[in-house]
Amino acid sequence: MKIAINQNLCIGCALCTSLAEEVFEMKGDKAQPVKGTDLTNKKNYKKAKEAEQSCPVGAIKVFG
Ligand code: F3S
Repeated sequence: MKIAINQNLCIGCALCTSLAEEVFEMKGDKAQPVKGTDLTNKKNYKKAKEAEQSCPVGAIKVFG
């Protein structure tokens, strides 16, 4: 799994970090993927997909 967060779209609502704190973190007022997270972990994958679908501006893309 690979995660991309469009920094231009992200409005810093922090929904992704509350849905999947193992996968996303805030850096200033933008979200970024947590470094070193096990993206092969099924639970993390599910949460990341949930965040992808929930982001109000569609800034998150989860591949794979
Ligand atoms: Fe940004 Fe969307 Fe997360 S707006 S903070 S990527 S839920």
